[in-house]
Amino acid sequence: MITIRGVEGLPQITAGDDLASLIMHACTLNDGDVLVITSKIVSKAEDRLLPALDRTDAITSEAKRLVARRGRTSIVETRHGFIMAAAGVDMSDVPFGYAALLPVDPDASARLVRAAIAKALGITIGVIITDTFGRAWRDGLVDMAIGAAGIQVLNDFRGEVDLAGNKLEATVMATVDELAAASELVRQKLTQSPLAIITGVSHFVTSDDGPGVQALVRQNKDDWFRLGHREAITTRRTIRSFTEQPISDEVLEIALSAAITAPAPHHSHPLRFIRLKDSRIALLDRMTEAWRADLVRSGFEGDALAKRLNRGRILYEAPEVILPFVSLEDAHHYGDHRDNSERDMFMISGGAGVENFLLALHGEGVGSAWISSTIFCSPIVRETLGISEQWQPLGAIAIGYSSVTPAEREVLSHQEFFTTR
Ligand SMILES: Cc1cc2nc3c(=O)[nH]c(=O)nc-3n(C[C@H](O)[C@H](O)[C@H](O)COP(=O)(O)O)c2cc1C
Repeated sequence: MITIRGVEGLPQITAGDDLASLIMHACTLNDGDVLVITSKIVSKAEDRLLPALDRTDAITSEAKRLVARRGRTSIVETRHGFIMAAAGVDMSDVPFGYAALLPVDPDASARLVRAAIAKALGITIGVIITDTFGRAWRDGLVDMAIGAAGIQVLNDFRGEVDLAGNKLEATVMATVDELAAASELVRQKLTQSPLAIITGVSHFVTSDDGPGVQALVRQNKDDWFRLGHREAITTRRTIRSFTEQPISDEVLEIALSAAITAPAPHHSHPLRFIRLKDSRIALLDRMTEAWRADLVRSGFEGDALAKRLNRGRILYEAPEVILPFVSLEDAHHYGDHRDNSERDMFMISGGAGVENFLLALHGEGVGSAWISSTIFCSPIVRETLGISEQWQPLGAIAIGYSSVTPAEREVLSHQEFFTTR
């Protein structure tokens, strides 16, 4: 039988309090129990209250990246990798003008409490630290574990056979979250009960601290929902500085597959891409020379010339460069003004394809810069790469993982760009 009981009578916690000792005074703990602690009192004991009349500043300081924003609500990834509203920053049950930030390392906090209790009482318990989360697919909040020690965090049923004889392929239960959510029933928000003790689950209690809740943080490549659907478009920025981390073929394939879904005239598929490998330096060197000649003709010289040309370094330095083209093979030929319109149609379709490409990379957490370069020297590009006259260069796309945090986009009013007639 599983029982969950709330613990009352804990004093108001302040910075520097010995939480484990106060908990041991407030309740009786036995071997195999699971102690669930609301993160708020851990934050208080660890002096994680921040004077913050403006909650937004506190959220910004705690956020690694924005996932979605609607009005005043921001969903962000915290420094720990949790996706939470307001980075878990909470102004309830704290002195006026203060915000409680999550513990810096909740797994470490759980380990400390567990070790202190083991030392004082000679018992082995599991410790879970919880906070309240919203859920992407469902209304209503639940408590989930943000830190854990001495408890099996996941319960892996993969490979087991159910009563109907079916082998389970993907069932890995988040045990710590189940216990955290259940414990909230006795630690309800309005009662001063920041602790719960769960008995009857000693089979989940482990002799070592275990991996903690960090084991549940989904890594980027497995995260299908990195961004809200609006942010998937609006948070893309041109990235001009990359780390050396290579881009996987899988990521490029995802982006190329997205690119070719862009609308195109005459039910055609006019986009073409070349991934620069062996010919990259030769092509860039030839393009640079052509650019230099153009700049000199426009009066550039000395430092100003060098500074301009330096802007082209990105294509030498990015981990990947992909050249997009539009093929005009399927454009109709009329022999009059419509031929130009046909070309325009195919070119704008190419632009839509490139934007899809950039957005798909962004969705995978990969940065890009769309560089005009090849558009200004198409004969050199065609000749160096041996491609058809029908292929119209659409620039070059430098691709890599960003080495900088891109600035937030200036918010423009659509009204400036929009009229009704
Ligand atoms: C056709 C095209 C050519 C571009 N060429 C360059 C370029 O040569 N160098 C560069 O740094 N950025 C280039 N950009 C990127 C723009 O400068 C960038 O999109 C703009 O500053 C807005 O920033 P954002 O993409 O972060 O919104 C180009 C963009 C487009 C659409």
